[in-house]
Amino acid sequence: MDKRKIIVTSALPYANGALHLGHLVEYLQTDFWARYQRMMGHDCVYVCADDTHGTPIMIRARQEGTTPEAVIARSYEVRVKEFGAFEMSFDRYGSTNCEENRVLSEQIYLRLKARGLISSRPVEQLYCERCAMFLPDRFVKGTCPRCGAPDRDGDNCSVCGATYNTAELKDPHCAICGGKPALRQSEQLFVELEPCRDFLKAWLPGHTDKGTADKLLEWFNEPLRGWNISRDAPYFGFKIPGYDDKYFYVWLDAPIGYMATLWAWAKERGQTLEDWWQDPKAEIYHFIGKDIVRFHCLFWPSELENAGFRTPTQVFVHGFLMVNGAKMSKSEGTFISAATYLKHLPAQALRFYYACKLNGTVDDMNLDLKDFVGRVNSDLVGKITNLASRGAQMLNKNCGGRLGAMDPESRELLEACRAQLPEALAAYERRDFCRAMVIVRDWADKANQLFDAKAPWKLVKEDPEATRALLTGTLNLFRLMAIALKPILPAYAAKVEALFGEAPYTFADAAKDLENRPIAPYEHLAARIDPKAVEAMVAETKAQAAQKAAPKLSGQDIKKGIRQLAHAPAPATFPEPPADTIAIDDLAKVDLRVATVLAAEPVEGSDKLLRLTLDAGEAKPRTVFAGIRKAYAPETLAGTQLILVANLAPRKMRFGLSEGMILAATDADGSPRVIRPAAPTAPGAKLH
Ligand code: MSP
Ligand code: ZN
Repeated sequence: MDKRKIIVTSALPYANGALHLGHLVEYLQTDFWARYQRMMGHDCVYVCADDTHGTPIMIRARQEGTTPEAVIARSYEVRVKEFGAFEMSFDRYGSTNCEENRVLSEQIYLRLKARGLISSRPVEQLYCERCAMFLPDRFVKGTCPRCGAPDRDGDNCSVCGATYNTAELKDPHCAICGGKPALRQSEQLFVELEPCRDFLKAWLPGHTDKGTADKLLEWFNEPLRGWNISRDAPYFGFKIPGYDDKYFYVWLDAPIGYMATLWAWAKERGQTLEDWWQDPKAEIYHFIGKDIVRFHCLFWPSELENAGFRTPTQVFVHGFLMVNGAKMSKSEGTFISAATYLKHLPAQALRFYYACKLNGTVDDMNLDLKDFVGRVNSDLVGKITNLASRGAQMLNKNCGGRLGAMDPESRELLEACRAQLPEALAAYERRDFCRAMVIVRDWADKANQLFDAKAPWKLVKEDPEATRALLTGTLNLFRLMAIALKPILPAYAAKVEALFGEAPYTFADAAKDLENRPIAPYEHLAARIDPKAVEAMVAETKAQAAQKAAPKLSGQDIKKGIRQLAHAPAPATFPEPPADTIAIDDLAKVDLRVATVLAAEPVEGSDKLLRLTLDAGEAKPRTVFAGIRKAYAPETLAGTQLILVANLAPRKMRFGLSEGMILAATDADGSPRVIRPAAPTAPGAKLH
């Protein structure tokens, strides 16, 4: 087979958000595919980058009193570590805020302009005087024009489901400062799409799946609307050539980031884009989610075509992640971040499970947490890995750790499985990872049947050489599975290579029989998942959501409002604290600790109090009565964290003994707000 030259990309994740299990649906499948191509012996380069530009990063930097560059540098570091932990094999992971991207973005824009595809027209947008900026939709809040619900997003209402123009919103206000924005006009630049109509109509059907192409083609019954690619200053991005106060919209330079990252990678090897993107023999594949199809299948190919660059070979579109059959939800604890997952569970378990579920279609993919535990424990550990752990340990213990020649039955089974490898590889090629996993699992079932039928644990006492022959067969079968699984489980496969003393596997190694040679000591390959670890991950995610949902308080609010609420039920407004000062030693007397709410219940006979059961990192939970019933439904508190005054003398109340107090502050409307640690913290941690 000819060596192919393949460029693979995943959509560039926003630098502004944390990586979550939904993102990983995309990054893991792209990694499976890139690794598969490399194991086939092809030249495959996989690039990705942080998508750094836009208003949100700029606002965040302002709020944190730092620069956007500092914000993206920090998130880049986290991102790269997390991707590393998930065994991602990017050839380069870059950033859209790089020189290569600036050069290419300007070049593409100027070429489009030279072809008459850029036009300019005035656009009315909401402008906030106080923030001195135009507000993107997501930074405008207001009353829904349809149902009248207050504090809705700029373009849709999550109460009644309406979508609207920001200009239709009643009572619009700036989500950043609360000020009242006004409509203001400014010139904007557009890439015209109508002139690309014939090109797109011809291009679409051959370059993405039929469903996606058909859906996009429905828009072709009307004139194609131009695409606004400019944003007014202040904006974090690249300045548009010829303007002082206009920047490229983040979505203009983001896909160009694919090329920019590839270019930077090529430069390091003394090559250019001509050697890769522009090489007519090279194939270009984009993996994307169904939400960003418009950008990748309409705007992007039009730009490339008209700027004299090659268009992608194929855009692979996938669906969205569901967890336990529903959309990922913060309050249900199923909006799980990559970081939280890694705290509780091994990366390879998710890689394995996603491979079992991904079938190369645009359908949404369900992560059922029970099924996840079951699949990993019964298939990966119980069926597949057990062959190696039992086979290798028995061989090391009873047969001097040396493979012999396979017995005829094992050899026959190995040949039969090997004959199915091309089918598994074809499944990989069409991203039907699920099918490849079914084939491997079937091999494991058959290998286990043979192993159990021969009962080597008995055989070994009567006929050690027959046992050696069987274990040689078992381990050869397992080795074939490890090779077939290597794109999914690279670290696992590396341990198998070490077990057999072999060089890194490619699929060509599957043809080889491993006989009459020693093996290394068995090293642990995969652990069973404890369902409790999954529960803990969900609970932690829930707690994070509760923490985020709590209103933000300024230092002033806290100073004004800190009160313990247990003993003195909150008055409607708090009096100013006395201006007297205390010495540091006085402060040190107060033992403030983080506590997790184990349970919260209403107290019979009191409309103010809740009975809280708190884990403050001690042997026994504590009971505290707190006057926060008006502001909190009890069921929203379990799993959240708060601050406990731990060394307050216990006090007997009408309802029972209160063993401490919790800290709270008054909101603008006079209701008590529990003060929480900014991040999940071990119960019992002391404040200082
Ligand atoms: N920055 C843009 C992409 C620019 S590409 C030139 C973006 N970023 S994103 O962080 O929101 O999403 C990155 C990728 O992850 C997208 O392909 C998106 O579809 C995918 N997913 C994000 N959430 C997802 C799920 N819940 N489920 C599956 N894929 C998801 O879009
Ligand atoms: Zn404002």
